[in-house]
Amino acid sequence: MKHLVILTGAGMSAESGLKTFRDMGGLWEEYDVTEVASPVAWENNRALVLRFYNERRKQLYEVEPNKGHLGLAELEKYFKVQIITQNVDDLHERAGSTNVLHLHGELKKVRSTLDPSLVYELEGWELKEGDLCEKGSQLRPHIVWFGESVPAIDEAVPIVQKADVFVIIGTSLNVYPAAGLLNYLPAEVPVYLIDPKPAFTSRPNVKVIEKGAGEGVRELKKIVTE
Ligand code: APR
Repeated sequence: MKHLVILTGAGMSAESGLKTFRDMGGLWEEYDVTEVASPVAWENNRALVLRFYNERRKQLYEVEPNKGHLGLAELEKYFKVQIITQNVDDLHERAGSTNVLHLHGELKKVRSTLDPSLVYELEGWELKEGDLCEKGSQLRPHIVWFGESVPAIDEAVPIVQKADVFVIIGTSLNVYPAAGLLNYLPAEVPVYLIDPKPAFTSRPNVKVIEKGAGEGVRELKKIVTE
């Protein structure tokens, strides 16, 4: 089976009702990223950071995977599918995708502030001040904040280098190193971009499907399985 590699961003989950970051009314319009998604914010205003992620985690229990997520899970019948996502939701997994690499962490997981190798599934949606790891230190969201390294990128690069087909869905390609993954794609690999307002990519002959994830994945499936 050919390798189908898919890079997804917040737009992938938009039709499930989760806000993107940089669209009109997106999360970064509502919050100053430096106040809720950075190590400095965690030091200076821990209650706000905890609330920001608790609100998003709570919402995750109220939404479902959309047709786009389900369509990608379907493609595992035709390809060896590897999803590389910037999203911290679990909608790809809940739709049935079995190979999902989270570049920016996972909302339903928390980790020790003393020992980052201690990662736990959070019971319920609320992480509170005073919730401690087994070594007695405060638990934090298992999310890559601005200014922090992206350890999963080392695992993502060889996956991209092995792609036979590459698909980009619902990302403005604004954030590195995620957006830089495109540079590791062999020149001959066909690239599809699914986005109602497609981000600019300097790569030649990208096939743009100017649609939302649900419709776009349906169209993609017709193209790549014919
Ligand atoms: N279907 C597909 N794409 C959509 C849809 C939809 N229904 N609605 C919006 N989009 C597209 C937008 O046009 C935009 O190109 O999704 C993209 C969302 O871009 P961003 O909001 O910038 O989200 P993303 O690219 O995932 O951000 C990357 O930035 O803030 C950090 O860590 C955060 O992982 C995030 C990273």
